[in-house]
Amino acid sequence: MPETSVETMIEARALSKHFGATRALQEISFKVARGEIVGFLGPNGAGKTTTMRILTGFLRPTSGSAWIGGIDVSADPLTTRGRVGYLPESNPLYADMMVIDYLNYVADMRSIPVESRQKRLHEIGERCGLMKVLGKDIGQLSKGFRQRVGLAQAMIHDPDILILDEPTSGLDPNQIVEIRELIKDLGREKTVVLSTHILPEVEATCSRIIIVADGKLVANDTAAALSERKSGAIIRVTVKGKNGSALDLAKVKGVLAGVDGVRSVDVTEGEGGPAVGFKLQSAGEADPREALFHAAVQNDLVLLDLHREHLSLEDVFRRLTRGEGGSHA
Ligand SMILES: Nc1ncnc2c1ncn2[C@@H]1O[C@H](COP(=O)(O)OP(=O)(O)OP(=O)(O)O)[C@@H](O)[C@H]1O
Ligand SMILES: [Mg+2]
Repeated sequence: MPETSVETMIEARALSKHFGATRALQEISFKVARGEIVGFLGPNGAGKTTTMRILTGFLRPTSGSAWIGGIDVSADPLTTRGRVGYLPESNPLYADMMVIDYLNYVADMRSIPVESRQKRLHEIGERCGLMKVLGKDIGQLSKGFRQRVGLAQAMIHDPDILILDEPTSGLDPNQIVEIRELIKDLGREKTVVLSTHILPEVEATCSRIIIVADGKLVANDTAAALSERKSGAIIRVTVKGKNGSALDLAKVKGVLAGVDGVRSVDVTEGEGGPAVGFKLQSAGEADPREALFHAAVQNDLVLLDLHREHLSLEDVFRRLTRGEGGSHA
């Protein structure tokens, strides 16, 4: 792939926000490049909504700055708001307004010219799957459709950045899949940051994950890299003796423990049987798998299994955020 310069669409620079004695954000910094879909994760009260409100210009940081498309949000909130579509956490909508009237009203607020308005409303209605309900009152819609209206509202002015605060919250599994597909589809042409508590959601949708806990950024990486980095490199090994010969457990343990980069060896299954499973902990960043393979061959051991263990995103999330979320709750 040719090297192209990456355009930063969203940037948080050392954002801090205090509400009285509550330090909701503490020096949060991250960047989002054009075309990324970034998942924003964290326990309740971690600071996700606060960050999103600062990025969208609805809240001023106590210190630090938010940048949209290279413009400081505090310096020029009107321009930056024009480039961003925002789905707030509670998705506030007017229950007794018809969908079409509401979208017209939002189009008014966004100063979409009357000449192009019908065309735009049609496009956005199609895009968000709202054509059948345009004449219905918002209050009569299911949650999934209300969320679609919220997304349509966020996108009516065709922004290139979308900031979505828990877009699938409260939806049933079918609706979650539908909205997720819609967001993925939008992500093909837009830069998206979405917050969620549903971990499979980010794995399915996002190219990168930012995790906050207690107002601090604790991770910023791909899902795959996060599970690898935090696994503490556990290696699972299962061996048996060559040609069915019995295993001398103490000797095998010694062989495995003697391999460069292996810090500890525990027997996990099959003790006394023909095949024995071990759990190895590697030292630091070392990957001793190749050396383990050679050691096995040299010692007439047959490797039935040799793999590095990956944590689920849920494990990673728990490790990174455990015990850090509740101090201000
Ligand atoms: N307007 C406010 N006044 C006082 N404290 C606030 C205000 N808004 C947020 N906070 C506090 O800031 C912290 C971060 O809240 P925030 O809503 O950003 O968390 P969150 O990550 O969005 O949580 P959730 O997952 O529950 O939506 C919390 O301690 C919260 O109580
Ligand atoms: Mg929130």
